[in-house]
Amino acid sequence: MGFDQREFHLMVVPTNGEINAPPPPRKNLSLSVVEPDEKDIKISSQELNRILTQYLETLSHRKEYHLGYPINVCYEHHAALAPLLQFHLNNCGDPFTENPIDFHSKDFEVAVLDWFAQLWEIEKDDYWGYITNGGTEGNLHGLLIGRELHPTGIIYASKDSHYSVFKAARMYRMELETINTLVNGEIDYADLSSKLLLNKNKPAIINVNIGTTFKGAIDDLDLILQILQKYGYSNDSYYIHCDAALYGLIIPFIKHAKTITFKKPIGSVSISGHKFLGSPMPCGIQMTRKSYISSLSTKIEYIASTDATISGSRNGFTPILLWYSLCMKGHAGLQQDARICNENARYLKGRLHKAGISAMLNEFSIIVVFERPNDPKFTRQWQLSCIRDMAHVVVMPGITREMIDNFFKDLMQERGKWYQVGTTVPPCLEDDIGSQNCLCCYRKMRH
Ligand SMILES: Cc1ncc(COP(=O)(O)O)c(C=O)c1O
Repeated sequence: MGFDQREFHLMVVPTNGEINAPPPPRKNLSLSVVEPDEKDIKISSQELNRILTQYLETLSHRKEYHLGYPINVCYEHHAALAPLLQFHLNNCGDPFTENPIDFHSKDFEVAVLDWFAQLWEIEKDDYWGYITNGGTEGNLHGLLIGRELHPTGIIYASKDSHYSVFKAARMYRMELETINTLVNGEIDYADLSSKLLLNKNKPAIINVNIGTTFKGAIDDLDLILQILQKYGYSNDSYYIHCDAALYGLIIPFIKHAKTITFKKPIGSVSISGHKFLGSPMPCGIQMTRKSYISSLSTKIEYIASTDATISGSRNGFTPILLWYSLCMKGHAGLQQDARICNENARYLKGRLHKAGISAMLNEFSIIVVFERPNDPKFTRQWQLSCIRDMAHVVVMPGITREMIDNFFKDLMQERGKWYQVGTTVPPCLEDDIGSQNCLCCYRKMRH
């Protein structure tokens, strides 16, 4: 017999009001820029040191509670690379052309790009790429190439795509088809098919998620290629950009996962460098086929270079950070990180399920989606990201079993207070994570 959710409406966690409310303003940190004390410069520098030490202590402490965003805080760059901070390193322009000045790190940049070219199976002479400011810039660039190759093209992106994809569509004033998703977050292939069929007269520029931001779902590239073929899209009437911001450095190191490869007819791949690999500042990699880049590339006399990048000045420090990390970790280190994160994610999901808490973990994923905690203070404490009635933990390198256990213990304790008998009940996540993953009381009563 059907169970009517409306009977329980008043008891459900009231998150709806929060969804559209503007975020609260940040607390005033009472920090200001002060003029140096001319009479005693020592006092000024002591005060600056005090502020910086306090900030450092806060960051070191809060590291233990950083569970909701895909940042790897586990790296040892600073000691070896700090001396480089005395130089301004600027990689503006093309990584492959000669520079008129010496203060750049393009040798490191190209070494890193070569490493990724090998990983994603494209010959050195066939690729073009650069080190970006992050995954967003990679998406902006990939979709821009798609538009330059297909000026009348339509962007197809699932609704679970990162917000930068929709930003690109707005910035470039391009037509956009937003595609539904399956319950696990993967693109809805039936919806994609019907929209491709409807717009057959225009080229397709498809953003394929190699790991969605919130649920960590991987779109099936092979199936998308089959759909394109089925509806008569020839190779020169579509462009595929793969947004692999987080998973671009995980998937290649997991047995049985489909590889990311330019042997398939994709146009570009981008990742964030600061995510799985880890870097103290944002960065990313964007890679495409060399033959595609000429449409974007212009000669700039001022910098004596060609330029096909989005930025002007480009960070010359991040290529060295990436190069250093890749050299230190190697394939074996990345494989180990991927394995440990997968195991820890399974461990967390298992603990949640055993405790009767709704949770989902996609195949190959390190993102555990679970019920949204019923207290904003708790989500802030653990720095969780929340959407509708869901929250997630991204089990990154550096998130230890001990941190997971501390989080779980805290959640169980707080849950006891939030969901005392007869007051409120946890939200139903059946529509968001599927009936097999939702353990809420509605579902229990239905079955
Ligand atoms: C799938 C996906 N794409 C792109 C981005 C944007 O990356 P960045 O924050 O490096 O700009 C993210 C960030 O979370 C992401 O999850």
